[in-house]
Amino acid sequence: MLFNNTQLERIAGAETPFYYYDLDLLNDTLDQVKAAADKRGFHVHYALKANFNERLLDLIQSKGFGADCVSGAEVQKSIDKGFTPEKITFAGVGKSDKEIITALKHGIFAFNVESIQEMEVINELAGEQNVVAHVSLRINPNVDANTHHYITTGLDENKFGVPTSELETAADVIRNATNVSLIGLHFHVGSQITDMNVFKSLCVKVNEWKNWFEDRGTQIRVLNVGGGLGVDYHDPDGNPIPDFEAYFDIFDKFLERSALHEVHFELGRAIVGQCGSLITRVLYTKSGLKKNFLILDAGMTELMRPALYQAYHKIEKVGFSDSQKEMIYDVVGPICESSDCFGKEVPLPESGRGNLIAIRTAGAYGEVMASNYNLREEVRYIYSDEL
Ligand code: LLP
Repeated sequence: MLFNNTQLERIAGAETPFYYYDLDLLNDTLDQVKAAADKRGFHVHYALKANFNERLLDLIQSKGFGADCVSGAEVQKSIDKGFTPEKITFAGVGKSDKEIITALKHGIFAFNVESIQEMEVINELAGEQNVVAHVSLRINPNVDANTHHYITTGLDENKFGVPTSELETAADVIRNATNVSLIGLHFHVGSQITDMNVFKSLCVKVNEWKNWFEDRGTQIRVLNVGGGLGVDYHDPDGNPIPDFEAYFDIFDKFLERSALHEVHFELGRAIVGQCGSLITRVLYTKSGLKKNFLILDAGMTELMRPALYQAYHKIEKVGFSDSQKEMIYDVVGPICESSDCFGKEVPLPESGRGNLIAIRTAGAYGEVMASNYNLREEVRYIYSDEL
């Protein structure tokens, strides 16, 4: 159960829709990921893109995590939130000059560089600032993440990283660049990965490319294997915290490393996915010829994943009694788009106007992907310690 009776009374009159964040669950998740990483000497950067809600960031920062950013504004945000620059990475295929300069000024840990041209631009801009930028080269390893094709990033057909066919040239450019220093290699093959074999295949590629560079006389210090660990969207209460031990074990076992190597991770979804739920009210019910609809006051403007990726999120009626008869609903939002649908043929206790519905596992890529399409109001949120 998401809420106890006292909490239910407190949210009874709350304006919906809102994101509910369980800070205790986030705290426990952070403690587990930290313990599992520290034990193996691994470094974890939290991927801000998954959720940059203020209090979530405060808690994550307070535990000593690094930050993984994909825009100048995320770099600035993590600095403002107190993340130490020495633990900030900056990735992205299209970093603008302005964003690069922001990151150079803060002296971040590393740019994850995604093309030879970008390397040249960073070298030039770092030269103008009289600094040497630390870079990790993002290699596209051609590993299939077995996940939704929109969140697969490590295949030859994807836009991310330097293709392996260009590594020889990249190595030359780096050798001749005076204002960049190659500290590592970066990989990220996709998101919501639940098949651990994908990470095994990734380790094989990391070993291969690390050796490739080291055989050519370039010592690699940082092995950044990205993020991607999935969460259980079907059973959020049964599996509230991902199995970080099993995940890190794969890298511990299969990555070849010596005392000279550091292993870095950029986890987003696995850290914040389960701590957030979107709480919404039924506005109307409608019985079509073939369907029963529950029309909610939240839509794709608050949680875009189902519309964008046909992503599954568990839908629950909040605070119902077991005696209610079960119905089958298509659960939809109010936005004027047919794709504005949270779930088709969802079994739920009979529901009516005013009932509260929870859309679970919405902590990652939920609030941050909200939009004001249809001039919707800015999305609200409530933290567990406010109830
Ligand atoms: N590092 C890089 C370079 C990334 O591109 C990403 C995510 C991460 C780390 C964090 O990945 P995670 O641990 O969260 O899987 N909006 C999509 C997910 C997009 C992921 C983009 N990159 C969704 O809602 O499923």
